[in-house]
Amino acid sequence: MSTIHVHDKVFEPYLTTEAISDRIQRIAEQINQDYEGMRPLFIAILNGSFMFASDLFKVISIEAEICFIKLASYKGTKSSGHVITAIGLDIDLIGRHVIVLEDIVDTGKTLNEFLPQLEHQQPASMRIAALLHKPEATVYPITVNYLGFSVPNKFLLGYGLDYDGLGRNLPSIYKLIE
Ligand code: IMP
Ligand code: MG
Repeated sequence: MSTIHVHDKVFEPYLTTEAISDRIQRIAEQINQDYEGMRPLFIAILNGSFMFASDLFKVISIEAEICFIKLASYKGTKSSGHVITAIGLDIDLIGRHVIVLEDIVDTGKTLNEFLPQLEHQQPASMRIAALLHKPEATVYPITVNYLGFSVPNKFLLGYGLDYDGLGRNLPSIYKLIE
């Protein structure tokens, strides 16, 4: 594998398709054990998590549901600052065992603002599965219950992650060369 150019930047290979697939298999095995008989509801956050969600869900062998949502952030009125709302969340969460699927937890801001909204709907439990986590960049407290890879604070691309719209279709993950 060699470097690739996307827009004005150059990226080098970082995580292979095989490495990603192995980790996802492990995560699925753990979830299959932990949620046997509980019919968990996976909530995948678009766009970034679509590939992770798809590959993970294929190796979930217990009864489970999945739905895909998109988070829209807009400027709230007065002092409320940014408000995040979920588009497409059409399933009742009361009493459900929810597993939120994220591509990457960076600062943690997105989940930190969004998770309380889910909690508000009184799920029986809620956990987070993220393919990637940048602990050095995380400033909002987020516990990732099922983690693929802990990664350095560098810009990553591929396997759902984009750089200004491009690169989501890459089957492996690349790292920005600075
Ligand atoms: P947070 O709210 O700072 O945790 O941001 C999380 C979101 O930022 C992720 O869901 C991604 O969409 C995006 N993001 C964070 N880091 C990267 C990266 O290295 N490459 C591409 N997108 C990223
Ligand atoms: Mg995302």
